[in-house]
Amino acid sequence: MDKIKIIGGKPLDGKIFISGAKNAALPLICASLLTKDTVTLTNMPMLSDIRAMNSLLEQLGTKIDSFNDFIDGHETKTYSYRSKNIDNLVAPYDFVRKMRASYYVLGPLLARFGKVELSLPGGCAIGARPMDIHLEALEKMGAKIEIRNGYVYASSEGKLKGAHIIFRLASVGATCNLLMAATLAEGTTVIENAAKEPEVGDLITLLNEMGARISGINTSILTIEGVDELHGAIHKVISDRIEAGSYAVAAAITRGRIELINAQPSLLQTPLDILRSMGVKIEEKENGIIVDARNAKLTGRDIMTDYYPGFPTDLQAQFLALMLTAEGASMITETIFENRFMHIPELLRMGANINVHGHASAIVRSVDKLYGAPVMATDLRASFALILAGLAAEGETTINRVYHLDRGYEKLEEKLRGVGADIVRVKDND
Ligand code: EPZ
Repeated sequence: MDKIKIIGGKPLDGKIFISGAKNAALPLICASLLTKDTVTLTNMPMLSDIRAMNSLLEQLGTKIDSFNDFIDGHETKTYSYRSKNIDNLVAPYDFVRKMRASYYVLGPLLARFGKVELSLPGGCAIGARPMDIHLEALEKMGAKIEIRNGYVYASSEGKLKGAHIIFRLASVGATCNLLMAATLAEGTTVIENAAKEPEVGDLITLLNEMGARISGINTSILTIEGVDELHGAIHKVISDRIEAGSYAVAAAITRGRIELINAQPSLLQTPLDILRSMGVKIEEKENGIIVDARNAKLTGRDIMTDYYPGFPTDLQAQFLALMLTAEGASMITETIFENRFMHIPELLRMGANINVHGHASAIVRSVDKLYGAPVMATDLRASFALILAGLAAEGETTINRVYHLDRGYEKLEEKLRGVGADIVRVKDND
């Protein structure tokens, strides 16, 4: 397995291009299953999770073409999906265990073909992450759901039926799956307590571009009037707010300055406000953000994760690392996932001062220095928190299990080297 080596202690300075959002792209790819026409997605990130989703769709029968594109002189991908001849309605264990977002094929395949077999994803490093909300809502729409041998067997006699659904919590995944299922249902579906994350908004935009009738975008009540069929569309994926937030912290933790190109500041208001209140200068531009922490004396802040537009759980680990270098004590509370502090034991090995209270809260106290160390993480964002600590630390940090990072951070070393970081990937046989 590859490793990443960082020699820390350098303020970063320069520009980073922010890629298209992974968590928007994954459901968008699956939305292409709703039509026999071609759906083209531009500003796609080049990530292992996207390649994994593409191979799942190819296994179902989707034909995929890819093109290299350029936005502001930066290479991006465009993918065209044509799901005219779907001849397999199974998402097998081998795909789902590697990438839980494989469950996004459930809603569209059930709506269009009336049948799906999906391996149940099971728990993951950050929490149990059940699928009960997705499945109960589909049952309300008339689907028959059976769980046998680790698989969900979902079927519907004729079309799914519009229903009034109230989610017990505002799940991003369940909102996306239900939106896709309801587009081709008979009658009107209303989802109350729907997720308002921008990635959900991006999916609604694409579905409407494909001929769906969805209203309530960016609110917690979504109304979907079913239509007989959807058609093709060309759609630009929104920029990745979590990647942008992660590099904003890279500027802050190294007391550097980074211009985030192709970032959308409106999607990051809560994290940007926290950075401002800590003492970081933030300049919002139409299509970018400048994060300037040169010579700044940062003070710690309390953070509690929440549904959008609250503070995103996907930036909790990165901000926790930043608080180690800010004056005073900061309380970090995680409310979305029950096991999302796996970065803390590794940060302690780098000299951090953190006290965990139960499994939801941690007190982070400022330390004079972090020290490089060999570390490893169990999920994507925790791994990035270790990269950040390594950039701020004295000496060499080696981050193991790099495959987590490859799932969600496109050209990570290249982007960080471009702003002056001393970072290399070491192949296992080097
Ligand atoms: C999405 O996961 C993202 N993944 C996650 O990003 C992100 O952390 C999360 O939303 C919250 O913003 C993708 O978009 C691919 P949820 P998702 O359903 O949809 C519970 C990253 O690092 N729940 O909103 O799985 C669940 O256990 C990843 O990029 C149920 O109980 O999140 C969790 O506690 C990690 N039953 C809470 O809801 C259900 O049926 C929120 O989960 C569904 C969810």
